[in-house]
Amino acid sequence: MSFRIQPAAPARPNRCQLFGPGSNTKLFPKMAASAADVINLDLEDSVAPSDKDVARANVIEALNNVDWGNKYMSVRINGLDTPYWYRDVVDLMEQAGDRIDQIMIPKVGCAEDVYAVDALVTAIERAKGRTKPVSFEVIIESAAGIAHVEAIAASSPRMQAMSLGAADFAASMGMQTTGIGGTQENYYMLREGVKHWSDPWHWAQAAIVAACRTHGILPVDGPFGDFSDDEGYIAQAKRSATLGMVGKWAIHPKQIALANEVFTPSEEAVSEAREILAAMEQAKANGEGATVYKGRLVDIASIKQAEVIVAQSELIAAG
Ligand code: COA
Ligand code: MG
Repeated sequence: MSFRIQPAAPARPNRCQLFGPGSNTKLFPKMAASAADVINLDLEDSVAPSDKDVARANVIEALNNVDWGNKYMSVRINGLDTPYWYRDVVDLMEQAGDRIDQIMIPKVGCAEDVYAVDALVTAIERAKGRTKPVSFEVIIESAAGIAHVEAIAASSPRMQAMSLGAADFAASMGMQTTGIGGTQENYYMLREGVKHWSDPWHWAQAAIVAACRTHGILPVDGPFGDFSDDEGYIAQAKRSATLGMVGKWAIHPKQIALANEVFTPSEEAVSEAREILAAMEQAKANGEGATVYKGRLVDIASIKQAEVIVAQSELIAAG
């Protein structure tokens, strides 16, 4: 470990973020009754330009009047390249009460994008005497976003989460696909005439995880567009969990249970982690830094790996 200790990410479950358009009020009670940890009410790309004002008013009304239980409530504002975003921030901060937990900033391309929203949010918090600070999550979904990902992660103490937005990311990068996440037909290795599919999202995800873990932020996998493909969603989510991401978006309610299943450590994984910790306790008592567990090496680094799994499971059980 360097002299700087890696900060812990916020201790709250973030296995599934359920999205719904701010223009579709009939979804709100269904979202509130769902099993998602986080709710993202959307003012951005699922809302037509002609509906922006009404969607904003709907979301404020719903934050004040729907019973959201213990859900973490986030609102996705419009991007900083639009004429809508400042009004989104002003109205939410002035009218949405204390039930808003988080603002999601889409298409962030540099740390200054976050700085601009932070300055506005901070001024309104002070003017209104708000005592509960609103946190930020951002979407990395452009070439600039991924190029500046580490600076964006470090941009504000409000930063709590960061997602990869596959569709806009692919468009900005000029990737030849219209798929939103998942396996891409033309991204394969060829060996002895047999195709082996590879993962074109991998490096961006790994870059996001590294930036997030450096700065104590939750790394989250974004949308999977084909909501009739459960197996494809699960495969993508498992890859993300293996890389260190803590959760994934749902753009349809059927994806919630899939995300919760993948991002909740299994009983087997938790009991194995506890056994590794016990084996290392025994090793320590014997004055050893390493030992053998089920025929494989475990050492002091294994303690940290096992602790990640146990901590994740305890956090979810407490939530
Ligand atoms: N949250 C909660 N409930 C939802 C929902 C959501 N995001 N999307 C659909 N449902 C409900 C439907 O109202 C329907 O309920 P019912 O059984 O009581 O009638 C049920 O789930 C089945 O829905 P279905 O008919 O399969 O889908 P749909 O055609 O109504 O909606 C979408 C499909 C994709 C338009 C819709 O899921 C949606 O708007 N998703 C969110 C899009 C979004 O926010 N995008 C921005 C982030 S990428
Ligand atoms: Mg997007």
